[in-house]
Amino acid sequence: MSLKDIADSLKEKKQSSADNTIPINKEFVGHGENINMRIHTIPALKLLHVNIPMGYINAINEHIDNVIIPNNKSFADGLVGQINQDKKSAQLDFPFDTEFGQEFQKFMEMCGTTYLQKAHDRQSKAEAFQCWTVHSYAGDYNPFHSHGVHTRAGLSCILYLKVPECIEQNKNKETMIKLTEATGQCDGWTQLIWGQNTRKELYELKHQEQEYILPIVGKLIIFPHWLNHQVMPFFGEGERRTLSCNFNVYDTKEESMKYMSEREKRIYESEKK
Ligand SMILES: [Fe+2]
Repeated sequence: MSLKDIADSLKEKKQSSADNTIPINKEFVGHGENINMRIHTIPALKLLHVNIPMGYINAINEHIDNVIIPNNKSFADGLVGQINQDKKSAQLDFPFDTEFGQEFQKFMEMCGTTYLQKAHDRQSKAEAFQCWTVHSYAGDYNPFHSHGVHTRAGLSCILYLKVPECIEQNKNKETMIKLTEATGQCDGWTQLIWGQNTRKELYELKHQEQEYILPIVGKLIIFPHWLNHQVMPFFGEGERRTLSCNFNVYDTKEESMKYMSEREKRIYESEKK
């Protein structure tokens, strides 16, 4: 998809997605005039969730088993993951220069570009420039970090490819993460962190700034590259296998000029000549 195609598709007028008007109890409506109330929400973070069909997940795992693992090209020197507790623990390069890799790159870029358009109304294109797999076993973990990209905006993602039974057994509790009572419920979960608010601040009418993601095979999440995250260790049999990519973001001219003053636009145009 070219940048022009993306720009054209965004020109179609969007219908208002939600009516936030709050109905008022009639006893409070006086003087013959209606009172309008609405909630104005200012978002802090948007994620794209994609459920990838098992047929494609199986093909990706097959490619990893037959090509990526035998090639055994470590990607660990650029990653913070402490993935070393098992002889099969590894963080491996997943190059895009094979036939399978090229097709997969196109799929991921379609997802990334969709995120930019739908979550941020942005006439831009996501280009995946690096990709790696993480093969974690009992005791492996990934400390607090974010990802780097080469453009002003950027995206990252996590695709869950294999989830051990000891993590998956918590899938019915996806929205009920319990940190008290030493339940181990968050073992192997990914924690997203975009601020410092904790439960105490929720009581003060602040909003959540952390979220736990339960790994489920086939789940892909795409997020801005600056989003801090970490992965808790787990303690049980089996492999927790994920794949991540980083994306550069290329803006259209219109998008690049969106927030510029008239003077900045003139300078931008003259520098482009
Ligand atoms: Fe990461």
